[in-house]
Amino acid sequence: MKKLRKKIIAGNWKMNKSTAEAQALAQEIVKELAGCSEADVVLCPPFTALKVVGDVISQTSIKLGAQNMHWEGEGAFTGEISASMLRDLYCWYVILGHSERRTCFGETDDHVNRKVKAALAATLLPIVCVGETLKEREAGQTEAVVKRQLEGGLAGLGAGELAKVVVAYEPVWAIGTGRTATPEQAQEVHAFIRKVLAGLASEEAAQTVRIQYGGSMKPANARDLLTQPDIDGGLIGGASLDARLFVEIVRQAM
Ligand code: PGA
Repeated sequence: MKKLRKKIIAGNWKMNKSTAEAQALAQEIVKELAGCSEADVVLCPPFTALKVVGDVISQTSIKLGAQNMHWEGEGAFTGEISASMLRDLYCWYVILGHSERRTCFGETDDHVNRKVKAALAATLLPIVCVGETLKEREAGQTEAVVKRQLEGGLAGLGAGELAKVVVAYEPVWAIGTGRTATPEQAQEVHAFIRKVLAGLASEEAAQTVRIQYGGSMKPANARDLLTQPDIDGGLIGGASLDARLFVEIVRQAM
């Protein structure tokens, strides 16, 4: 039996926006969505804008998220930031293992796994990104790649911990390319992801986990994706930088 999962739409602002621009964007989003309770809304600005955006959304149902963190709690890790530092700024979520982190910064499934554990230990909710490249898809390796990323990234979690994780399926070929997976293509992988999660923990935990789709999600394609049985939300890059587009996608999730 499929349990009800509340949709979750997160904006991944990546390395964009000054503090003033971030504040203005958050204010525009708040104006439209402050009382929104039908879907969970998360804003993930760059580290430098977490404080200003956190202040703008503090009295609303919108939650703050970060885009990365280190697995250690503190110490000599120049340029890094810890889970407790993110909690200190009232972050609820943290995106982990984004394909840009994996490709540009050499993150491995083991790194992701350490980060997931550190995040959960600090009561931060991880949004764990998985997804295949075009070459892998064309070679028929989509399921093998996604399975390896899930089993590696989520290794050692109990069912209770796993149930707190959000998974984002982001086919690398769809990120920032304007080329979206069809709802059928996405649903097929989402259902597969849920099957892998059930194998990792339990069917019950797998039914609780929210699985977002990410990769060129826009108002025009959001509804068809979000009405698929195993698609529980979206991780939005480009369109999250425009308040009107982002708000429109959230409305499609309601
Ligand atoms: P996109 O990015 O919406 O610009 O494709 C999604 C992501 O990278 O999270």
